[in-house]
Amino acid sequence: MSKELTLAFIGGGNMASALASGLIGKRRGAHDVLVIDPGEQARARWESQGVLTAQAPDERLGARQVWIFAVKPQFLKQAVESCRPYLTPETLVISVAAGISAGSLSQWLGKNGKPWTRLIRCMPNTPALIGAGAAGLLALEGVGDDDRALAQQMLGAVGEVVWVRDDAGIDAVTALSGSGPAYVFLFLEAMIQGGISQGLPEADARKLALATFTGATQLAGLSHESLGTLRERVTSKGGTTAAALDVFEKEGLVRMVHQAMQAARDRAAGLSAEFS
Ligand SMILES: NC(=O)c1ccc[n+]([C@@H]2O[C@H](COP(=O)([O-])OP(=O)(O)OC[C@H]3O[C@@H](n4cnc5c(N)ncnc54)[C@H](OP(=O)(O)O)[C@@H]3O)[C@@H](O)[C@H]2O)c1
Repeated sequence: MSKELTLAFIGGGNMASALASGLIGKRRGAHDVLVIDPGEQARARWESQGVLTAQAPDERLGARQVWIFAVKPQFLKQAVESCRPYLTPETLVISVAAGISAGSLSQWLGKNGKPWTRLIRCMPNTPALIGAGAAGLLALEGVGDDDRALAQQMLGAVGEVVWVRDDAGIDAVTALSGSGPAYVFLFLEAMIQGGISQGLPEADARKLALATFTGATQLAGLSHESLGTLRERVTSKGGTTAAALDVFEKEGLVRMVHQAMQAARDRAAGLSAEFS
């Protein structure tokens, strides 16, 4: 990433903070970043870190090489339209909005009926805030190798990155890792509640549940064995784990997870239809 590279976030909320936290300090100074956000409080938060801010797009946006749209999907079209006058051929546009297709975005950004294709659609997740994110990226045809490398480096600074071929791929990423942290939090809450109801103090139940997730995840990441093998290792015939897994199986946990992910994917498609 070159020293001179400059970034603008359009929308300075949770996701912009998560992405910026991995970039500012590590790879660039706060003054390399411009945040455009109508909210006074949001701007004050960024300014306190030395980041330049603006209430609305102005000429400074045109001088930024990479624009990252991080507004809620329902505000994206309006945000894009207000920024479009400042687009230059040097601008690489990245959108992290859920559910808005790359095709719609490229139409909104386009001029005189010509779609804008120097565009990357990205689906990150909030653990990016601590450098442990997981993101899927989709590049349109105007994105060159340097742009790809740049996006890979930027998102790679805050977690794992995979590339997908189309919007359906991004919707699948949304259903898995975009919304995924909430599934994990729900499962953790359930385990903690289960521990408490069996008599453990809340603090201990929380400590054990978090350490179990972290430990199991790290073990799976470091091991060359399949998840199934690792699971079987914990599961002796007629033992305690087998008793628990039997209940998961009888109650259809795997089916339920798949149904939930399908609902997330369908909602992503629904959002796209609603806001495109
Ligand atoms: N949070 C997640 O886990 C997650 C994961 C993956 C992707 N995303 C995507 O990331 C995007 C941002 O989500 P978020 O959670 O960061 O939302 P957020 O915290 O609400 O941040 C969005 C910010 O954009 C501002 N804004 C609204 N209209 C604007 C405009 N026209 N120009 C500039 N800024 C504007 C909002 O101001 P006001 O509050 O004053 O309206 C708010 O400060 C969404 O599209 C979401 O789908 C989020």
